Amino acid sequence: MSNYHIKHLEEYYQVYRKSVRNPELFWEEVAEEHFLWHKKWDNVLSWDFKKPEVKWFEGAKLNITENCIDRHLHTRGNRTAILFEPNNPEEPAQHISYSQLHARVNQMANVLKSKGIKKGDRVCIYLPMIPELAVAVLACARIGAIHSVVFAGFSSTALSTRINDCGAKMVITSDGSYRGDKTIDLKGIVDKALDDCPGVNCVLVVNRINGEINMKSGRDYWIQPLLDKSSSDFPAEIMDAEDPLFILYTSGSTGKPKGMLHTTAGYMVYTAYTFKNVFQYKQDDVYWCTADIGWITGHSYIIYGPLLNGATSVMFEGVPHYPDFGRFWEIVEKHKVNQFYTAPTAIRALAKQHLDFVEKRDLSSLKVLGTVGEPINEEAWHWYNDNVGKKKCPIVDTWWQTETGGIMITPIPFATPTKPTYATLPFIGIQPVLMDENGAEIHGNQVDGRLCIKFPWPSIARSIWGDHQRFKDTYFSAFENMYFTGDGALRDEVGYYRITGRVDDVIIVSGHNLGTAPIEDAINEHPAVAESAVVGFPHDVKGNALYGFVILKETGEGRVQDNVRKEINQIITEHIGPIAKLDKIQFTSGLPKTRSGKIMRRILRKIAARDAENLGDISTLLNPEVVDEIKGSAM
Ligand code: WT7
Repeated sequence: MSNYHIKHLEEYYQVYRKSVRNPELFWEEVAEEHFLWHKKWDNVLSWDFKKPEVKWFEGAKLNITENCIDRHLHTRGNRTAILFEPNNPEEPAQHISYSQLHARVNQMANVLKSKGIKKGDRVCIYLPMIPELAVAVLACARIGAIHSVVFAGFSSTALSTRINDCGAKMVITSDGSYRGDKTIDLKGIVDKALDDCPGVNCVLVVNRINGEINMKSGRDYWIQPLLDKSSSDFPAEIMDAEDPLFILYTSGSTGKPKGMLHTTAGYMVYTAYTFKNVFQYKQDDVYWCTADIGWITGHSYIIYGPLLNGATSVMFEGVPHYPDFGRFWEIVEKHKVNQFYTAPTAIRALAKQHLDFVEKRDLSSLKVLGTVGEPINEEAWHWYNDNVGKKKCPIVDTWWQTETGGIMITPIPFATPTKPTYATLPFIGIQPVLMDENGAEIHGNQVDGRLCIKFPWPSIARSIWGDHQRFKDTYFSAFENMYFTGDGALRDEVGYYRITGRVDDVIIVSGHNLGTAPIEDAINEHPAVAESAVVGFPHDVKGNALYGFVILKETGEGRVQDNVRKEINQIITEHIGPIAKLDKIQFTSGLPKTRSGKIMRRILRKIAARDAENLGDISTLLNPEVVDEIKGSAM
């Protein structure tokens, strides 16, 4: 019997029970049936959350790109693998077939090889959403190099930190990128970053905007001439199941980003299986995920999951508001998109616009709508359901993380009845638990607590690159023998989960995961700043926005303060990127601190949210008087 494709609720419960009773047997069957292996595993799973160590399909040999591409050549060689929709709607879309993708990935792999890249080397990819990004990712996987994609909205400092942390030898970038009616000088950002990256000896440059750029001789090469003279054959490197596939950085509670390490076979099996079921993808459907490949959503559900299923995956270079706020719906109509996957922040921004943008388009191709990245509020859920899905398309509110590699809690469309703001039920094989602050499991329904997972799933991250201790401390130390997600959740009367948000110092702004510490570090770089604290506050489009409380060394006048505000945001933009800019900056003479010197963020969060009536017990503070001052001049 095949459990690969779940179609109704009964079947979900049946398969779920099986996957939990005997996970090894369950995942072994999935792995047996749907993939190409050079050698099968000796052991399905070994794990120990104390170390922590997790190994899936140990002993197996494979290459994930043969599963993404070669395997489909006989049956679907001429079908579209990647459907590229450019920033400019006048520029024609590109339909890249599986055969063409095969040739392009092989050529790129040959170029990487000719520049000295081999199995295990790290390659940093800093590209806009153009086909070369997907091709470069797959070329790394083909050759066995570890890709580390850095979102092309990150600044040069953020880029150099990541390049140095993973020890990348090569950077693949473009001369620039389009963003609406603007262009961005990506190569200039790379050049600046590389001043601090002595380990990089080769930069491959895609020509996207015909930009005027500097090419450093002996280091920088235009990619097209190299591709043109490369063979379109490349025998895939045979990898071990647990060989690293990629490193992807995510924010943490200290200044340094965490390089989440994902490995090959388990990631492949889980992203393929979740894609098929969560989107109910059927042959020849057109699937579109609007995320950027610089985030895990793009890795797992623009590239790997869809291609592993032989799907057509839309890749969109542009932004939702260019040339106008109807762009998403225009694209859905144009390419007859069947599954559409986006973030609540985009839905909220689009819901603010005139309904005509949606109504003038034929959206009848849509079958399934997805959301990811942050909790979706009730109004946004209904707007999406009523106006985009016309109440006919189930909404899959998918909860997961960079660390989990794939979707963890989600409805299965047409099987699980949906409920606004609820991610609903654990996906097959996922065993969530709610824990209280004392480390005890909270049983029963209608309860809330800290969300943990008590059993490994195939695509769990294996480590933080170069810092296994931090991996252990961050995810496996708060609760014994559990993976701790950092999120709070509640479980309703039927066992549905609702994710309530982060319980740590990570803030999700427009679906981007930002740590407060790196932002505070950036603010403190300003010569006039003595100390700072950043918290999130509710924002109707972004979900959360950032509020900074800043102590200046000397309090200046209003005008001076305004300048400092601007400069602080400039520094943040340089260190991290524009996504981390503060919406509000309040100057204060002090920050509320505990006697041990820890900032009481709980108080600052309440003040920022204009909910400071009841601050609870502040008597333990070292400096309770400062609270009134901060409340009094809150913005
Ligand atoms: C954090 C992970 C994995 C996709 C992109 C984000 C929040 C994610 C949901 C959801 C409520 C969600 C969580 C999580 N989150 N999806 N459906 N409902 N919250 O990946 O950058 O690693 O962020 O995003 O807080 O921990 P990420």
